[in-house]
Amino acid sequence: MLATSTTSVPSIDVRGLSKSYRNGVVRKTRKSVLRDVSLQVPRPMTVAIMGQNGVGKSTFLKVLAGLLEPDCGSVRIGAKQPTDALIGYVPQDNPVMPWLRAIDDIALPLQVAGIRRAERHERVRELVSRFRFDIPLETRGHALSGGQRQVVNLCRALATPRPPDMILLDEPWSSLDVGRRLELANHLHVIRKELDVPICLSTHQVDLAVYVADLVVFFKENPVTVGPEDIISVSLPTPRDVSLMRSQEFLDQVASLEERLQEGTRR
Ligand SMILES: Nc1ncnc2c1ncn2[C@@H]1O[C@H](COP(=O)(O)OP(=O)(O)OP(=O)(O)O)[C@@H](O)[C@H]1O
Ligand SMILES: [Mg+2]
Repeated sequence: MLATSTTSVPSIDVRGLSKSYRNGVVRKTRKSVLRDVSLQVPRPMTVAIMGQNGVGKSTFLKVLAGLLEPDCGSVRIGAKQPTDALIGYVPQDNPVMPWLRAIDDIALPLQVAGIRRAERHERVRELVSRFRFDIPLETRGHALSGGQRQVVNLCRALATPRPPDMILLDEPWSSLDVGRRLELANHLHVIRKELDVPICLSTHQVDLAVYVADLVVFFKENPVTVGPEDIISVSLPTPRDVSLMRSQEFLDQVASLEERLQEGTRR
């Protein structure tokens, strides 16, 4: 579905995407999760995918990340296939290596790219200070709290050897307290502006989705199909700051999206 018309290459271009899994209950059958999903995001934007548990949000993000092969359809990040693009991906479960210090865990993409240790550390410290992340870099993974693991995962997604082509975040606010959720939302504004790459995230947080996103996409049924009515442009001014969250237009958009989500759940 075309979000807005454009003549240049879309920043995210999904066409006729279907994905099913082998059914663990009835042998030799498959469970269809995404069916003929199309989504064109014309320029780098923040896209929030919303929908009830188990609808297919993580599956969609994994296909965008090139971690899952679609049954059919095509995905392009700019002009690239997902497997050729450099993608910063934060999985839903925020994995960390228990034995690694946070600084070395964040630096893993740089290590894989063959960058020396001293330079890796320098780049991570620069990244953390540039985006003003609050993270104990010397603490090992086993001693990090859930919220700290979430920040480590976001930093690792940004610590690519060259700027990423896209950032994917699977429920980025799930382990954070209220203050840190807002902090992360503001980080996402800065990341979008500084890196100028598309950000696609899944979330159940309607207010934060409205606060950070340019587009909200509803995954409302199983299997997921996406029609024009499922793509909502967030018509709020940018740049956005926290005072916007108290405005009537913000509260109206949140109320209208909540209603849509509840309709989806009742179906
Ligand atoms: N590896 C797998 N094998 C079989 N079925 C799977 C697999 N991964 C996910 N599923 C099924 O696919 C459907 C979509 O799962 P997915 O994780 O994409 O949902 P989600 O929208 O991210 O849910 P949540 O909000 O709970 O994270 C679910 O019914 C799930 O049980
Ligand atoms: Mg999920």
